[in-house]
Formats: sequence, C-alpha cells, structure tokens
Amino acid sequence: MIDPPPPTFEDVRDLLSQNCVACHQQEGPAPFSLTKSTDYQRRSAFIQALIQEDRMPPHLVASERWSDQEKDVVLRWLAAASRDEDSQTVPAPKVPSFRKDRSFRIPEGFVIPKEGGERWHRGDRDVRTFRLAPRADQLLRVQAWRFHSSAPREVESIGLVHDDGTIARYGDLQEPNTPGYEMTGDMGWRPAGMLGVLGVANSTFRIPDGFHFEVPQDHEIDFELRFRPSGIDKPLAATLEAELVPDQQKSRALHLIPLSIRSWRVKAGESGTLEQRWVSPIDIDVPLVSVRAGRRIRGVSLSVDGKRVFDIPDWDPHWQQTWEIPDLRMTKGMQVVATFNVDNSEENPRNPETPPRDIQFGRRTGALGIWLHAAAIDPVDQGTLQQIHRSIFEAQQSEPVETPRQIEQSPKASP
Ligand code: HEC
Repeated sequence: MIDPPPPTFEDVRDLLSQNCVACHQQEGPAPFSLTKSTDYQRRSAFIQALIQEDRMPPHLVASERWSDQEKDVVLRWLAAASRDEDSQTVPAPKVPSFRKDRSFRIPEGFVIPKEGGERWHRGDRDVRTFRLAPRADQLLRVQAWRFHSSAPREVESIGLVHDDGTIARYGDLQEPNTPGYEMTGDMGWRPAGMLGVLGVANSTFRIPDGFHFEVPQDHEIDFELRFRPSGIDKPLAATLEAELVPDQQKSRALHLIPLSIRSWRVKAGESGTLEQRWVSPIDIDVPLVSVRAGRRIRGVSLSVDGKRVFDIPDWDPHWQQTWEIPDLRMTKGMQVVATFNVDNSEENPRNPETPPRDIQFGRRTGALGIWLHAAAIDPVDQGTLQQIHRSIFEAQQSEPVETPRQIEQSPKASP
C-alpha cells in the first residue's frame, strides 16, 4: 500500500483564499497576513492544531464549518509542505457584489482607546454607540450592508438598530464632549428595530433573497461598536452602506421575535441551563437569527419542535453576529426553544473573573437572548408580527430573575 500523494498548492488554494485570506490580509481584521503559501508553512503545526480544533476558520455554525474532507486536504498539505518550496500567492477572495444605494457615516472624532476600560457591566467588552447620519429620507428596504472602517483589527462587531432618534440623542447628551456614548445600542427601554449584527470580518452582509430589514422614514440608524483595544490609539472613521431592494421587487420585511431572558443570576462556581420558549401563533419564515450572550455562556442553541436548527456548542462572544438559517419555516403551533449553557465556574476559560463571583445581569430588552428575524408567510399576518414583538417584550418585563437549572435535572420537573 502506498499513501496517496500529498495535495498540491492548487488543491488548497481556493479554500485558503475564501476562508483564511478573507480576514488574514493587509487591512483585514486578523492580526497578520496569510497571503503566501509560506505564511502557512511557517506556522504549520500551530495552524494544523487550530484547524483540528475547529478554531480557524472561525465559522461556528455547523453548516459553515469545513467538512472533514476539506480539513483533511488542508491538513495533509500542511503536513507535507514543511520542506522548502517556492512561496506562492494565495489570492484574495472574490469580492461579493454590492450596489451602494445609501451611505451613512459615524460622527468623526472618536478614538478607539489603546486599552480597554472597566465597565459597569463587568466583564462586558468595550462598547460604544453612535447615531449615524443622515436619517432615512424614506422607508428603506435594506437587502445588504457593507461596512468599512479605518480600524478593521480593532472592530470586533457592529450591531445595528433603528430608532426615531429620541433615545439615542438622550445618550449623546449624557456624554456631550465626544461623539457617541457608552450605553449599548439596543435603546434600553423598548423594543427597537434590530437590523443585524455584523461580525468581525463581515464587511458585506447580505440578507437572504426575498427578505429585507426595514428602516422607517425619518428614523436614524444607531450603531453599536464592539471594539478590541490593540495597544495603540486608533482614530475611528467608518461608513455603513446599504443596498436596497429595487422598488418594484417583492420582498418581505423581517421583524424581531426576541427569545430573551430579561434578567438572570448565577452563583460563583455554578453551571446549568437557561431556556426561553415560544409557540408561534402564525406561520413564519426565520431566515436569520442574532445572538446576545456574554462570556459566562458556553453554548447556545435553538430547537424547533424538538429538532435542533441552530447550535453553537462552544460559544465565543468574539463572533457575535447575525447568522443565516437555511429553510427554517415554523407553522402555527410549533414551539421554539432557545437554550443557553451557563458556566460560571473556573473551568470556563472565558470567565472574566477568577475566582468566579456571584453575578446578576439585567436589561429591559434582554440580558441574554436569541433573536429570530421573522417574516410572515401570509401577507395578512405581517402586521401581527409587530404586535407579537411588543407583547413578548411586555410579558418579559414581569418575568422573575432566572437562575440556571442543573443540567442533570429533567427540564421543568418540579418535585
Ligand atoms: C473571520 C475572520 C477570520 C478568518 C476567516 C480566519 N481567521 Fe485566523 N484569526 C482571526 C482573528 C481576528 C485572529 C486573532 C484572534 C484573537 O485576537 O483572538 C486570528 C488568529 C489566527 C491565528 C493566531 C491564533 C492565536 O491564538 O494566536 C492563526 C494561526 C490563524 N488565525 C490562522 C487562520 C487560518 C489558517 C485560517 C483559515 C483556515 C484563518 N485563520 C481564518 C480572524 C480570522
């Protein structure tokens, strides 16, 4: 028996281009370039370990991970390619198509500080919120976002909401000498329109065909920046661009169904699960979900009628973003369950506090949650979704502080 010959550079070029160079290039969000074959070979053992552990490429949803076959090709190439070879260029990935119909700017003058600050929600990362200009001149049906900034490495993710301006302006007034303010951008006290979260490398985010995010006329877009200080002060200049659904084209607006936990607490050293359930009163499509979860959450998942449709077993708040779920349709009466695995022990490597401390989180729009971006299947129901959002939000305001259940116990079993 002879082993098959090792894969050649041609066999791996496209995979590396699409899945590594996308971030690891000059001006990309990753800390160094991987644009030559020798860049991989020099770090061969380390990269092999990262790939084996599914840590790079950092796409956490099962459907986006490399298949075993893809992993195998790259791993065998890395293992074999340690001898001297000419360096070859790994080309930049194809630039996704995008039409710039609108452009919004963040106010100038904010500098991403060289070091992170201690925040009142302990352990949360550095966050700043800005109002973008101009306001929407008409109702906008957004089918794709594109984001550019002067600090791609320091930008971890951006969250977008729309608001009539009153609450964001209040935030600005609290800190009048610098643009933006420290509160997070979900407008705290009422359900605002969520327009997606763009993850670290997501300079273009396209909403699946047939759906759009809606920005009402005269609303402004507020922009929650999560940043990662890098040891140097980085002045931030950034633009957000929108591609709109063409006027005559049919498309359905996405509304929010927040499967949130308004407040929760966990004792030092404890772990367990938290859940939020909802039964759909109408037929809906759910092409996208967004996650809000911090460092004491080890995993998040979503099940519909007992079947897992979304699962991130090793949650890293680093990769907070809006995820696509292909073909998720819920008919009336189906139950969806969002599950969060809480781990406030020392075993959780991301626990910001050692030794762990008793903690409690609370936020009117949910301290923890999976948000469904949903569209009604029957156009008659489209208005119903807004009411559903409001009534879920209102019901959550009177929910008690939740504590995680031990994993061993059967759910909701009361002795
Ligand atoms: C979505 C963007 C993105 C993609 C795609 C990506 N990386 Fe990374 N990579 C990063 C970021 C950001 C960091 C820095 C990690 C941090 O700061 O926590 C990183 C760090 C690394 C590191 C150093 C890890 C460490 O712990 O020091 C290696 C090696 C690496 N990436 C290799 C790869 C390889 C190989 C691929 C393709 C298989 C890849 N990356 C794909 C964003 C990406």
